Amino acid sequence: MLEVTDLAKTHPGGRPLFAGLSFSLRAGEYVAVMGESGVGKSTLLNLIAGLEAPDAGEIRVAGQCISGLADAAAARLRREKLGFVFQAFHVLPHLTLLQNVGVPLLLLGRDDPARAAAMLAAVGLGGRLRAYPRELSGGELQRVAIARALVHRPALLLADEPTGNLDPATAGEVLALLRDEIRANGAAAILVTHSAHAAASADRVLELTAAGLAPRRPAP
Ligand SMILES: Nc1ncnc2c1ncn2[C@@H]1O[C@H](COP(=O)(O)OP(=O)(O)OP(=O)(O)O)[C@@H](O)[C@H]1O
Ligand SMILES: [Mg+2]
Repeated sequence: MLEVTDLAKTHPGGRPLFAGLSFSLRAGEYVAVMGESGVGKSTLLNLIAGLEAPDAGEIRVAGQCISGLADAAAARLRREKLGFVFQAFHVLPHLTLLQNVGVPLLLLGRDDPARAAAMLAAVGLGGRLRAYPRELSGGELQRVAIARALVHRPALLLADEPTGNLDPATAGEVLALLRDEIRANGAAAILVTHSAHAAASADRVLELTAAGLAPRRPAP
């Protein structure tokens, strides 16, 4: 589902984040990625989504090399195959929650308000379909972003700290939903998190350091 080979990235004016980074994910595999703030976790997700270009290396999503695609083709691949929960939620302020969650389906020509409403209900916001983002708390917005990322049943879910604003009980529920959805769809997922508790919901836990991405060793 995802194959990353010899990836290298340095932001202009920054220090090298990674070089020679390789890993792969099979369909249905769910991994957590941990690592210190600033190590490059969000950058890695952006590279996988084709939102930033690597300096070197190759990223294949569902067999297609995303870094080699023209913008329009990369956008199509993203729309069809990827779900992305951004660290900053990126909900659209002038759309209701129902409309926000429906956007991925609309872009695919598969408008389905019932599915969007069901996803909002699944994250505990079934009573707020016609509310606007400004009326919501940070944790509620985070749940809207999760519903939107899953609504079109993506083959690969990229989630950047999706439970960072949630209380432990809600975080647990949202992670269970996330796992059930990706299991039901046979999708792969990468969960970036600072929470060992959230990471424990994944099949395996990797740690990103300047040396690369490696299985995380339990704290001594
Ligand atoms: N567009 C950019 N231009 C220049 N530098 C950037 C850019 N985006 C990120 N950086 C820098 O690259 C480094 C990695 O950033 P990134 O957001 O990937 O870290 P992170 O591991 O997600 O951290 P956090 O856990 O705090 O979210 C940081 O030092 C950041 O300041
Ligand atoms: Mg980040």
